[in-house]
Parts: sequence; structure tokens; C-alpha cells
Amino acid sequence: MKSADAAIRLLSWYDRHHRDLPWRVSPPMARDGVVADPYHIWLSEVMLQQTTVQAVKPYFQKFLQLWPRVMDLAAADTEEVMKAWAGLGYYARARNLKKCAEAVARDHGGVFPDTEEGLKALPGIGDYTAAAVSAIAFNRQSAVLDGNVERVISRLHAIETPLPAAKLQMRALVAEMTPTGRPGDFAQGMMDLGATICTPKRPACALCPLNDDCLALKTADPETFPRKAAK
Ligand code: ADE
Repeated sequence: MKSADAAIRLLSWYDRHHRDLPWRVSPPMARDGVVADPYHIWLSEVMLQQTTVQAVKPYFQKFLQLWPRVMDLAAADTEEVMKAWAGLGYYARARNLKKCAEAVARDHGGVFPDTEEGLKALPGIGDYTAAAVSAIAFNRQSAVLDGNVERVISRLHAIETPLPAAKLQMRALVAEMTPTGRPGDFAQGMMDLGATICTPKRPACALCPLNDDCLALKTADPETFPRKAAK
């Protein structure tokens, strides 16, 4: 499989079928040099860990109304932030959110670091969030791997190793496939493909822009990927 061709097919599918989500600037963003607001991307990515897109939308909008910039969130009352978060669950995320905003305000003058390393040094930002913010907000060629992307890549390459052992291999394959132009759109395209076409059950392979490239579709049943470890 030619990674570059597959990435082009994915981006062209994303241009036509991307989900309109409140934290996205109109794709294709990188084409005209528009880069998304790092504060928006970071806030949405923290909220989207362990929570669905549908559930996150109103909370994302409420937070931006209450605290339009990261400096506002840094200066907010912690109790108010916890109250606004109520209902989203996993409250450690909200506490880390507040700590991270304070660190960006205090140590970086309110400007998010623009590298994965710099982002990872902030409270509550792990490998996934650092890569997502770096690719989507700063258009850097970071390999973004969440549950949806793991499913897509495991099928594309018919990866026999089960998760989590397969993670390193998957990250390397995503890195190899990520284009230098539009890495943020590519990451979100892979997420959207996993959420809407390459679904856990009954994937819509006939509609998939990568069906020509997909080893699982050629050789086995895509639904059986990613492989599960024997109990
Ligand atoms: N899940 C996590 N991040 C996402 C994003 N940027 N777009 C869609 N789904 C996501």
C-alpha cells in the first residue's frame, strides 16, 4: 500500500464528509493556512477523553462562553469550573484542566507550547492529547492514535497482535501515513472514519475511502480487528 495515496484518499473523503463540530474551523483548514485555536482544541480534546462527541458539544460551548480565553479559565474560581463540568464525569479531568490553564497562564504568558514535548510537560496532558493538539492546532506532523484510529489502522494492516501490545506498531504505522501537509485534518479524518464508517460492528466498507488499501477486507473479516487478547 502506498501510504501517501491512502492519506490523499482519506483527506479527500474528509473534505466531503467531515462532521461539523464546534471546535473545528472549516476544513480544509491547513490549505489556506488557518490553524485552529490551541485553547479550543485542548479543551475539546480533554473533554472528549472518555466522553462522546454529542455529550461534549454543549459543555464545550458553555466553557467558551464562561471563559473565552485560557487566561479567563486560569483566573476562574475552581468551584465554578467544577460546577460547569458537572455531568461530564471523570472529575480529575476538570481539576487537571484548571491546573493546566494556570500553568499556561503563569509559565507561558497564556500561550500554549507548540510542540508535543512542551505540551506534555503541562498538567493532565499525556501522549494522546499532546499529539492531538500539536497536529490539529499547530499543524505539526504528530501521530494521533485514539480508539477510533486504532481500529482503522488495525484493519488497514490486518494487525494480528492484540492491544495494548500492538500500540507501538500502530503508532509507527500512523506516523508513516500522516502527511506533512494537513496533519490535523488527517488525524480528524481518521477519527471521523472510525466513528462513522470503520465502526466496531458492521463497518460500512463499501463506503470507505480506504477499502482498496484495507488488508482486513481483503483477507479476513474486518469486524474481527483489532484482535483481542485471549482471556
Ligand atoms: N475524538 C477526540 N478528538 C476528536 C476530534 N478532534 N474530532 C472528532 N472526534 C474526536
